[in-house]
Amino acid sequence: MNTEKNSGLKTLVDLPRNVVRSIFRNPLPSSDRGRAATSFTNFFLHIQPVRVSKQALRPTYTMGLGLISFFLFVILTVTGVLLMFYYVPSTSQAYGRMLDLRSSVAFGMILRNMHRWAAHAMVAVVFLHMCRVFLTGAYKPPREFNWLIGVALFLLTLFASFTGYLLPWDQLAFWAITVGTSIAGYAPLIGKSLRFLLLGDSTVGQEALLRFYVLHVVVIPLVMGLFVAVHFWRIRKDGGLAKPEPESKPGAAIIAADFPAAPASPTPAQVTTVVTAETPSRRFTIQGLVRGPFVKVGKLEEDTVFSWPSLLVAELFVLLLTIAALMAVSFFLNAPLEQPVNVMHPPNPAKAPWYFLGLQEQVSYSAFWGGIGVPGIELLLLILLPYIDRGRQGVGRWFARERLLANSIFLTFVVINIYLIVIGTFFRGANWQFVSPF
Ligand code: HEM
Repeated sequence: MNTEKNSGLKTLVDLPRNVVRSIFRNPLPSSDRGRAATSFTNFFLHIQPVRVSKQALRPTYTMGLGLISFFLFVILTVTGVLLMFYYVPSTSQAYGRMLDLRSSVAFGMILRNMHRWAAHAMVAVVFLHMCRVFLTGAYKPPREFNWLIGVALFLLTLFASFTGYLLPWDQLAFWAITVGTSIAGYAPLIGKSLRFLLLGDSTVGQEALLRFYVLHVVVIPLVMGLFVAVHFWRIRKDGGLAKPEPESKPGAAIIAADFPAAPASPTPAQVTTVVTAETPSRRFTIQGLVRGPFVKVGKLEEDTVFSWPSLLVAELFVLLLTIAALMAVSFFLNAPLEQPVNVMHPPNPAKAPWYFLGLQEQVSYSAFWGGIGVPGIELLLLILLPYIDRGRQGVGRWFARERLLANSIFLTFVVINIYLIVIGTFFRGANWQFVSPF
């Protein structure tokens, strides 16, 4: 009787520990093997490699831009789902729901602000991430396909922001989308049909609001989620972030391992290919890398650190910074809400969202070339880039001298596009006349 009571008590005392152990299979790691095992056995951490290069962790190398893009995407998903509890995609109700969010929904204002500013920030940050990848030559083989996935993600980010722009159903939304979709209408042959497909009508109205809503809350986020997963998976498969070619000769360095409890020599199960001076290619099984000792090539040990905790801490830091910055902006700056839609009173000038104002500026010179021709050529160049520029020189370094020409051409395009956006945003007034903002 007493033993039964004791064992019942012990089960109760052990309960919290057993629950934690059932979730986290490893205790907090205190050895290299523990750090590796933690990465393997955790769903979220196993996406990352056990070790990462020190270069990938240098804040000045990636500037965390890819990560910030991802965290913004997650924040947008969370705040977007919360907003869905209040929003109704109907021309008669949408604007009223915006007013409710402002005045009668708890935290409604900050929620809407966070969603709005995160969407704008994501467009800018994804663009900057693309620039970083270009300027460090990180699109070159074997990362061509991941660059393509990236281009798709950039277009999807623009499209997600654009479709969300219509939802408040105020003057700003209505006329920005009217202008934006009319640019799509300039495409030869398919332009008119494309515009009709997008709007479900010949003008922006209830059909357009419903289509934009479904695209914005279901279709685009799902496709983006899938593409982001492939993007991350490819980074792993491409051997982590691009880095400069190692200086050591292939197959030269064979370094003794320093894993304490390891067997004396590598077994065939641990090392698939033993490196010799004649066989520069090397492949390790995962177990081989963890258990050691193993044959290391180049300065593997000195150039890398364990993901647990180095990478994890860096990621958490970027996440907190992103949330803090977004909350600070959302606290002080309210998302705009203009008058309800009035189809009889277009503002003069009616402007597209800021990221399409460069296009609108170009369209003011030539409808076809500005809206379709030039952006189409730019997009084609972005897509073909990694298949045209295949040399390995300058990969993994900012502004490498070997890439002076490529970087100069790219930066010229970037500066022209930013210049056009600035002109369209600040220097265009009524009837698209040139005005001074000062
Ligand atoms: C939703 C948008 C995107 C997300 C969430 C995202 C996320 C990431 C992350 C987290 C990384 C690794 C760390 C870093 O570089 O900061 C990365 C790397 C990379 N991204 Fe993106 N990215 C996005 C868009 C793009 C775009 C627009 C491009 C190019 C057109 C691109 C091309 C690449 C390439 C090639 C790499 C590997 C870079 C290297 O090896 O150094 N990504 N991305």
